[in-house]
Amino acid sequence: MFITFEGGEGAGKSTQARLLAESMTAAGSTVLRTREPGGAPGAEVLRGLLLSREHDWSPPAEVYLHFAARAEHVARTIQPALARGAIVISDRFADSTMAYQGYGLGADRNLIAALSRLLPVRPDLTVVLEVSPAVAADRMAGRRQALDRYEAMGPAFHARVAEGFAAIVAAEPDRCAVVSADGGMNDVHRAVLAVIASRRPSPA
Ligand code: TMP
Repeated sequence: MFITFEGGEGAGKSTQARLLAESMTAAGSTVLRTREPGGAPGAEVLRGLLLSREHDWSPPAEVYLHFAARAEHVARTIQPALARGAIVISDRFADSTMAYQGYGLGADRNLIAALSRLLPVRPDLTVVLEVSPAVAADRMAGRRQALDRYEAMGPAFHARVAEGFAAIVAAEPDRCAVVSADGGMNDVHRAVLAVIASRRPSPA
């Protein structure tokens, strides 16, 4: 099973991916938790290039860089783990390219959709964490690190990203589930577990 977490900045995806991985591990599953951009050594190098504020990529180059990182992540990390029977939980995947580059930056959405269709794996379930702008801003203000290139983009960009995630959920309701992420982390975790329980294919 391949599960992805998606959403805008300050939604708490990394925390929720970790809590879900811990719950599933405690329940006896073998779980691999990973992230994008990154999740494999070469892909982590590309992450540095993509998040650094030193570079200003043209939108198509940025799309290809995310997909280059993703190709490496899929081939080196995700496919081997799925082949071993592990549950893979990824903090972001191809929907982030559609939302951030396609909707946020205005990159060619047909190109992104075509590259996504060519991937050899597709999430079985995507949890889209939805956070209100005020809560997201509060959470971001509490972070100590300097803002990366995407975090530094303005509120209009992040509103377009949120619109992108909403469009993805509307287009693929069977794969995607929206969970409100405004509450405390344990409440959000319980809501995520409820979604997993309701969507998980029953054993044959
Ligand atoms: P985060 O996952 O730690 O929030 O940081 C990753 C950043 O990269 C986040 O701002 C979203 C952005 N991103 C894209 O713009 N496109 C993508 O395809 C992916 C995976 C991430």
